[in-house]
Amino acid sequence: MKTPLIAPSILASDFANLQREIEMLNRSEADWIHVDVMDGVFVPNISFGFPVVEAVKRYAQKPLDVHLMITQPERYIETFQKAGADRITVHYEACTHLHRTIQQIKDAGCQAGVALNPHTPVFLLEDILEELDLVLIMSVNPGFGGQKFIQRTYEKINRLSELRYTLNPQLLIEVDGGVNAGNARKLVEHGANVLVAGNFVFPRKARKQ
Ligand code: DX5
Ligand code: ZN
Repeated sequence: MKTPLIAPSILASDFANLQREIEMLNRSEADWIHVDVMDGVFVPNISFGFPVVEAVKRYAQKPLDVHLMITQPERYIETFQKAGADRITVHYEACTHLHRTIQQIKDAGCQAGVALNPHTPVFLLEDILEELDLVLIMSVNPGFGGQKFIQRTYEKINRLSELRYTLNPQLLIEVDGGVNAGNARKLVEHGANVLVAGNFVFPRKARKQ
């Protein structure tokens, strides 16, 4: 497998020209298209919902990596799959019955991921790691693009890499928030396989959305 995979986040793209932005990603070296869904409750921002995911899917030639920053994501898994999600990542902090929600994502035919906020330790995933395709480590507090990378992330990737070694060698480690040319290499050296990049890929809107 190619490492790292690159997953540009369309949160930082020009929504008025979404088709053009997706077509640019189709032509680029990007591997996945990262789709940040925010509900204004789990995080203090609202991004977009199903119609926009469907619109992206209409033009995307790469898998949609849907990152749900929403409470009770179990209510919407099938709808996101129908809208075009290939991978669905839910937040550990948003799921009361995480194991059930992961099964639900798989039953819908999608790859399943769990995201951890910066304050959530990786050991909390020990009993579910074998069930997962991916763990997304937030390297900023979720809710906005264009934030500063949290240095502690490297240590979290180290610890997750150790767990991966014994429990699930196929697991992908994705890093999301403040990723750029200055830290990408170090992230990969620590064990990251997938790098999300918003403002680094779409510099026009290099500001807090
Ligand atoms: C933040 C989102 C990220 C964000 C990354 O809540 O999950 O995917 O779009 O944007 P940058 O790369 O600008 O930090
Ligand atoms: Zn994201």
